[in-house]
Amino acid sequence: MINMISKILVALDGSTHSKKALDYAIFLTKACKASLGIIHVIHLPTISSADPQTVDKVTHLLESAGNKILTKAEEEAEASGLKVDRIREVGYPVNHIVKASNKGRYDLIVMGSRGMSGIKEFLLGSISHGVSQHAKCPVLIVH
Ligand SMILES: Nc1ncnc2c1ncn2[C@@H]1O[C@H](COP(=O)(O)OP(=O)(O)OP(=O)(O)O)[C@@H](O)[C@H]1O
Ligand SMILES: [Mg+2]
Repeated sequence: MINMISKILVALDGSTHSKKALDYAIFLTKACKASLGIIHVIHLPTISSADPQTVDKVTHLLESAGNKILTKAEEEAEASGLKVDRIREVGYPVNHIVKASNKGRYDLIVMGSRGMSGIKEFLLGSISHGVSQHAKCPVLIVH
């Protein structure tokens, strides 16, 4: 029997879907008197012809965009009286979200059904699909 959800992890990519996921996660964290983790993974594109300087520049831009996403989420959670654990990784989001949820012993992952690319033909984006396949804990997908 499940009698407690004590840690909730929300995956953020800056999309309107992930904003909705954050609102659900904040609501559930309060309702369960749990603690909230927020994760953003910097997903570097593979640019085969790019020189190191361009790669550095893109990395830097994605890093500061990621920090903004996390800070905004943190502010929203704090405005509802929550303290959050902030997680930032670089790599393939599915792997890092799953790893962080295992390592931090999260009881629930909350994420959007789609994200930044939001191709409407697919019911789920590749990251929410991958996480729901590989996570050990339940995954709440917010449409
Ligand atoms: N880089 C990321 N870091 C953290 N969470 C992410 C990241 N990318 C996506 N997510 C989470 O996954 C959800 C679904 O996004 P996903 O990337 O799967 O869809 P998409 O962008 O529409 O499609 P795709 O990326 O497969 O082309 C987002 O709402 C967010 O919760
Ligand atoms: Mg995406």
